Amino acid sequence: MTDLPAGLLQQTFLAGGEFHYELNSTSTRALEVGAGDIPLPYLIWAEQQAAGRGRGHNIWWAGPGALTFTILLSPQSLGIAPAQWPGLSLCVGTAICQFLQRMQIPDVRLKWPNDVYLSSRKVCGVLIESVACRPDRLAIGIGINVNNSLLNAPPEIQQRATSLVDVLSTTHSLVPFLTGLLQELDSVLTLFGRAPKEFPPLWRDLCWLTGRQVRMTDVRGSVTGTVLGIADDGALRVRLPEGESRFVSGTVEPLSA
Ligand code: BTN
Repeated sequence: MTDLPAGLLQQTFLAGGEFHYELNSTSTRALEVGAGDIPLPYLIWAEQQAAGRGRGHNIWWAGPGALTFTILLSPQSLGIAPAQWPGLSLCVGTAICQFLQRMQIPDVRLKWPNDVYLSSRKVCGVLIESVACRPDRLAIGIGINVNNSLLNAPPEIQQRATSLVDVLSTTHSLVPFLTGLLQELDSVLTLFGRAPKEFPPLWRDLCWLTGRQVRMTDVRGSVTGTVLGIADDGALRVRLPEGESRFVSGTVEPLSA
C-alpha cells in the first residue's frame, strides 16, 4: 500500500486515501477500513484487482489499464438525505456519463440502474454497498475500462463490454482522468443533495434502455417488455402486455442490440 498521488488530495473532495498495486477488491477493502475512524471521503484505488466484485454474485474482471476504485463517503455530509439513497447509483452513473461527455466522448449513455454504456456496450459498472456498523457511510465502487483493451476477451464479453481505448484508439493518463472524475462526482452528488428535481430530466436523456425490448428479472420473477424510460423517483418504467409496470430493483437484459 502507498500514498495517493498528492494532486488527487489537493484537487478533489477527498480527505484521505490509499493506493495499491494489487488488491483482491477495493470494495472489500473499503468495507473493512470503513468500519474504523478514517477521514471521509476516502479513496481506495488499486491498479489491479484479483477478485473484483460486481452486483449480486457477479465477478468484475478487468485487465491491466482499467481504473478500479472505491470511495467511502457519508452522503449526509454532501446534503443527501437517506430517503434519496436509492437514487445514488443513477447519480453516480450520471456523473460518469457527464465526465465522459465533457471529454468529447460520443455515444455515452446510462444503463439503468448502475452501468455506463459506450457505443451500446458496457464500459463502466458501479457497485454501492453499505458499511456494517456505520449506517451513515456508503462504499461506492467504480470500475471503468479505460486503457484495457477487450479485443482479446472471449466473444461473449466482447459482445457486451468495451473500453475507451478500443473505441477511441487513444490511451488516457489515469491520475488526471481520476482527478476529473472525482471533481465531477463531487459536483453531481452535491447538486443531488441540493436540487434533486434537476435529475429526472438528465436520467431520461441519458437512458440507453428507452424503447428497447428487455427481460426484467427481480424477486417476482422474469418478464419481457419495452422500456418506457426512467421515472422521476428513479424506477424503471416498462410496458408489459398487461400494462405499465415499475421496477425499483432487479436486472435488465436487453433482447436486441
Ligand atoms: C457491476 O457491474 O456489477 C458493478 C461492478 C463494480 C466493479 C468495481 S471495480 C472497483 C470496485 N471494487 C470491486 O470489487 N468492485 C467495484
